[in-house]
Order: sequence, then C-alpha cells, then structure tokens
Amino acid sequence: MTGLAIAANGLRKSYGDKSVLDGVDVAVPEGTVFALLGPNGAGKTTAVKILSTLVSADSGTGDIRIGGHDLAADPQAVRAAIGVTGQFSAVDGLITGEENMLLMADLHHLSKQEGRQVTAELLERFDLVEAAKKPASTYSGGMKRRLDIAMTLVGNPRIIFLDEPTTGLDPRSRHNMWQIIRELVTGGVTVFLTTQYLEEADELADRIAVLNDGKIAAEGTAEELKRLIPGGHVRLRFDDPDTYQTAALALHEASRDDEALSLQIPSDGSQRELRSILDWLDTAGIEADELTVHTPDLDDVFFALTGPAGIPNQPKENVR
Ligand SMILES: Nc1ncnc2c1ncn2[C@@H]1O[C@H](COP(=O)(O)OP(=O)(O)OP(=O)(O)O)[C@@H](O)[C@H]1O
Ligand SMILES: [Mg+2]
Repeated sequence: MTGLAIAANGLRKSYGDKSVLDGVDVAVPEGTVFALLGPNGAGKTTAVKILSTLVSADSGTGDIRIGGHDLAADPQAVRAAIGVTGQFSAVDGLITGEENMLLMADLHHLSKQEGRQVTAELLERFDLVEAAKKPASTYSGGMKRRLDIAMTLVGNPRIIFLDEPTTGLDPRSRHNMWQIIRELVTGGVTVFLTTQYLEEADELADRIAVLNDGKIAAEGTAEELKRLIPGGHVRLRFDDPDTYQTAALALHEASRDDEALSLQIPSDGSQRELRSILDWLDTAGIEADELTVHTPDLDDVFFALTGPAGIPNQPKENVR
C-alpha cells in the first residue's frame, strides 16, 4: 500500500501459553507520529521488537509491511529502512560517546569522513559535545538516553522506532527531544513511539493507540480519545460559606464539595455551555470566587481504558 510507512494486521504474539498481542492492527502513514500507550507489560516493547524485525510474530499474523517491504520476506530491506532505539540502552559503556557514534557510522558503511561529520553534527544536536571524549559508562542516565537516540539517527533512517524515548530525561532534555522528533517529522521521517507520558503523546502524536489486554482498546487523535470519556465539568469555588450555600441550593444538579466550598457542574467545556452557565449565574446573582473548566486529559483516558478488570473505571476527576 502506498502512503503507509508501517502496516500490520492481526499482529499476534504469545510467550508460551501467555498471549501478549492478540490481534493488533497498526497503520501509520508516512511522515506522521504514532504513539503506542499502555500500562507496564501491555506489550508495547514486544510490538516494537516485532515491527523492527528483532522478534518474530506468531504464525497467523497477517502481512507486516515496513517502508513498503514485506517484513517476513525481506527483513534485510526493512532493517535498512529503519532505526530503532530500544527501551534499554544500546550504548557501550567501555568506549566514549564519540566512539559509539563512529561505530554506528561504520555499521552503516559510511566513509570515515562522512562518519566524522555525521557524528559531530549529532553530538552537537544532542548536547553531547563536552562529554564526547569520555567513556559512556560515566554518563548520566539522561546523557546515555540522548546518545542512544543520536546513534539511531546515524544511518539517516526514514522510519524510526523509539521505545520510551524520554523516560528518565529532565524536563529540558525532554522538550529538546520533542523538538528533535518534530524536526525529523518535518523532514518526512515516520516515528513509531511508545511512551508512559501521556503529555508526550498529546504533544507529538498524530494518532495514539492504547494497548490493553493484548488489544488496541482505543485509537484516534488525542482529541478523539478525550471525547470518549466523561469527566468534563466546570468548577465554582467560593470563599464565603453563605454564598456557597446559596449557590449550592440554586444549582441543585451540581455535585457539592462542602469542605472545599466548591460545586461541579457537568459540562463539555464548549463555549456555548460556558456561556449559558455564566448567564445563569448572572441571573441568579451568584458570583464565584474562582471558576475553572476541566476537560478530560489523556491521563483520564488512560485510567478509563486500562484500569484493572473488576474495578469500575472512573476518570480521576470524578473520583470523590
Ligand atoms: N522474551 C520473553 N519471554 C517471555 N515473556 C516475555 C518476553 N518478553 C516479554 N514478555 C512478556 O510479555 C509481556 C509484555 O512485555 P513488554 O515488554 O512488551 O511490555 P511493555 O508494554 O513494553 O511494558 P513496559 O511498559 O514495562 O516497558 C509481559 O508480560 C512480559 O513479561
Ligand atoms: Mg517496554
């Protein structure tokens, strides 16, 4: 199929009698970012390993095509088209950061001169120039992570798999990484990432899939996913207990928090609903000291879709 960088149908994988992936479909258009979310043990790394040829899928899995190549028939072509940064570091601690990079350049058959040039550029881009001549074993976790991803980019891959690329990075490094990923995508690169940071998926991904119990529990844009679950409301908070009581009586459909002197009115957060709430408050002569609008965020979606079986799934803002 043209236009799809990554395509898999009915992806299955079991370890022994434990089914990890139970019919997962993936379709990632070229030049887009796809984020796979899911709790620990959901099978994210397994999916990355299968799609990047490191582990084979169970028989019965449909065709997997990466960069237009059939993964089963031509894994070499797939490997040439992709870059992979695993969840755990591939950095060799005994040699320097620069040497790690040059080794990757050799593996990609770059000339000495090209290798040096690419290495210098990437070390600069990932803020590793100062550390370049030191053994990688002396790097902090975040520096190793950055080196790891820099190494993935040496071969200038058109499709990259990033398994939890920013785990352990400080906020500045995380934002730098996001910026680098965005630049890659602007340059036409396709990114398949897994993450535990819902904010990261929200920031970067064109499409997000939530993996739970071996299946995709939901897929869509961040906005689409947020619309799947309830939990939007307007919260009115009062300083004065009497004003609060008056408002609570008038707004009997609101849920009350007598301790915090606040009322929650269910709302989708749309301009129209907000206006009618404000009009209504004006008419009733009620003035809240604080008004905040809560729309469900991806955390709510995650909790709602991946809660342990048997426990009612409630978006966190609705838990009282
Ligand atoms: N080589 C293996 N042999 C047996 N079981 C495995 C193997 N690799 C993974 N598993 C199991 O498969 C399941 C999914 O693991 P996987 O590493 O894909 O999860 P994950 O979603 O990446 O989790 P995390 O968020 O912790 O990284 C787990 O139950 C794990 O124990
Ligand atoms: Mg993992």
